Amino acid sequence: MDVKKFRSLMPNINDMTYLNTGWSGPSPIYVVDAIKSRLELESFNGPTSPEILESGQEIMSDSKVLVSKLFNCMPEEILLTDNTTDGINLILNGLPWKPGDEIVLCDLEHPSILLPAYNLQSSKGVRLRMVSIDLRSNHNDIKQSFASSITGRTRLVMFSHIQYSTGLRMPVSAIASIAHKVGSRVLVDGAQGPGHIRLDMDALGVDFYSSPGQKWLLGPDQTGALFIRHNLIPEVQPSRIGFGFSSDFNLEGRFDAVTDSIDKFSMSTTSAPLRAGYNAAITKILEFKMSNIERRNLELSQILKDKLVSVNGVNILSPLEGSECSALTTFQVNGVSPSDGTLQLWKNDRIVIRAIESQKGMRVSTSFFNTEDEIHKLVDAISRLAAKHGS
Ligand SMILES: Cc1ncc(COP(=O)(O)O)c(C=O)c1O
Repeated sequence: MDVKKFRSLMPNINDMTYLNTGWSGPSPIYVVDAIKSRLELESFNGPTSPEILESGQEIMSDSKVLVSKLFNCMPEEILLTDNTTDGINLILNGLPWKPGDEIVLCDLEHPSILLPAYNLQSSKGVRLRMVSIDLRSNHNDIKQSFASSITGRTRLVMFSHIQYSTGLRMPVSAIASIAHKVGSRVLVDGAQGPGHIRLDMDALGVDFYSSPGQKWLLGPDQTGALFIRHNLIPEVQPSRIGFGFSSDFNLEGRFDAVTDSIDKFSMSTTSAPLRAGYNAAITKILEFKMSNIERRNLELSQILKDKLVSVNGVNILSPLEGSECSALTTFQVNGVSPSDGTLQLWKNDRIVIRAIESQKGMRVSTSFFNTEDEIHKLVDAISRLAAKHGS
């Protein structure tokens, strides 16, 4: 992978230091071009002329094949969604709940997990068991904490593959196997997964995995994918009804509901141009190979942590080494609020990172397209910030 050459496909980030891929990755030229040319094709040739309709359908089916390669699953297990939150909602609102059923989750989670769970608690009488995770917990501690909350009443265990708040990489397969022993389902919020670390649905052992296109894949907004293990498709009921719901119906109210195809969740018109951009994004990631990308993402974050750890006034909240690490690094600077710190880094140095209010910290995403020079520039800027506020 030639990073210099790749960066020439991203002219949009050459006048700034972009370290916020975990929120949204900048789309390279090949993504922008794919969106543009499909949009032009549709607009200039009649969006519903037969050839255009057919090629639009091909984009959708290619998309499922590409995601299945990235996830190591079957294309029939992939639903194309708008984003991670969309997929999480589809599962939470589609599983059969009884009052007293329990969901196990943890206290580092994103609102995209917390809020749909809180809603189920108030609307369906589902009980939430919140696992508390100490910032210095290792995989074994986390496994034990989940194990002590998972009981015969647990119907769903859900958590992020990589926690947005601290970058903690969760022991997914270990938790999934504990959950499966009591017959619970396992939903993983994979917002920070694809394009960041290697994925394999079989090895992870999860039932549902919801993911976006706009982050580490560098795809466009409003593109995502949800994995549903094939044998569980009949168990999840569509909570919103669209074209895929019925294979046959008449005007007297009769309809044949689709039960075992993931197409039953399909709604109606979706954007082929955006999906073409998503496909271009995944194609390039597959070409580079996820093992190379993951290695570089993590290498850069290790370089950052190794430098940051010796800056006075800085406290790193993310795991410092080992299998708990990801390419997200969250830190605090004494005397600096997260929102003010991120704003100052932008105004003074044109560095883009984000605030993580729940941890009173700031978060850096190191993606394979970033350079070591950019990391040094960031550490210098943080050191100046810490020195200014520490004196
Ligand atoms: C862990 C996690 N979950 C969910 C989301 C929301 O993702 P989306 O915008 O794809 O719904 C994010 C976005 O930052 C995230 O980091």
